[in-house]
Amino acid sequence: MDVKKPLDPNKLKSENHKLYANFCENYELLDAGGGQKLERWGEIITIRPERQAYFKSETPFTEWEQKAHWKFTEKSNLKGNWKNINPAPKEWKFFTEDLTFHLELTQYKHLGIFPEQETNWSFIDENLRPKGRFLNLFAYTGASSLVARKKGAEVLHVDSVKQLISWAKLNMEHSSLSDIKWVLEDALKFAQRENKRGNSYDMIQMDPPAWGLGAKGEKWKLEDKIEELLKTSYSILRPNGWLIVNTYSPSLKLEDTKKLVERIFGKKAEVCSELWMKTKTNKDLYFGDIVRIQKS
Ligand SMILES: C[S@@+](CC[C@H](N)C(=O)[O-])C[C@H]1O[C@@H](n2cnc3c(N)ncnc32)[C@H](O)[C@@H]1O
Repeated sequence: MDVKKPLDPNKLKSENHKLYANFCENYELLDAGGGQKLERWGEIITIRPERQAYFKSETPFTEWEQKAHWKFTEKSNLKGNWKNINPAPKEWKFFTEDLTFHLELTQYKHLGIFPEQETNWSFIDENLRPKGRFLNLFAYTGASSLVARKKGAEVLHVDSVKQLISWAKLNMEHSSLSDIKWVLEDALKFAQRENKRGNSYDMIQMDPPAWGLGAKGEKWKLEDKIEELLKTSYSILRPNGWLIVNTYSPSLKLEDTKKLVERIFGKKAEVCSELWMKTKTNKDLYFGDIVRIQKS
């Protein structure tokens, strides 16, 4: 595979490095450019809009369209339609080395996995102890929950959308795993409740959106609520526990997240990086920011 290995997280000491995610098994970012990206998910190839692909693609779109099965066109409000270009199903199973996911074409252009999260999956696998407790906030279809459960940890998976919890359960079953604890709730409220109950964790991952709604309509606005969530997370982390914070928002810069986290933890973050992935054609795509910090 012609993709750079991610940097060793332990060697990254609070500097703004680029952290490159590897391709996970069966996924390839084939090319990008002209506001689009070409990806392979097992047998299925898709074309999707990608704001960060502001450069020219390596191969022409005519070639992309010969290969691709599905192409997404944005209409409004991030929603859009999938057009079938070559015969292919609308949903299929996607296999990584040891997990199985249900993928489908959603109206929001996503398919059920964020492959750039591979870097966090490796981190969780390497740093979470088998009997540890793992809290996945804003957990979506549960890729990180599955990795942590596979490792043998006790996993609490929190998301505010019922259909996404059902999708995550399906992924757990497809992966022959069991006993993930599903929590349909606002992430901040749940973390606060865990704090009151005196529960604690060995690792907490959060992937908060810029905007969101809790299960009871609680408004989530990243820059208004992140500090409270980070403070609560610090309180419920065990000594030596890890916090992983993913963000993708113009309103919260990497430097701000780093400062906030370091102030709350009273130490330097071990990892403070932009998250990137290389296409097979050797182009760099930006996917957000990551801060990882271990509680003293
Ligand atoms: C960017 S996705 C997370 C992707 C995930 N890290 C992964 O790689 O699979 C954000 C998720 O946050 C959820 N969400 C939004 N607002 C929320 C809230 N207030 N409380 C809990 N979950 C929320 C959404 O339903 C969505 O699943």
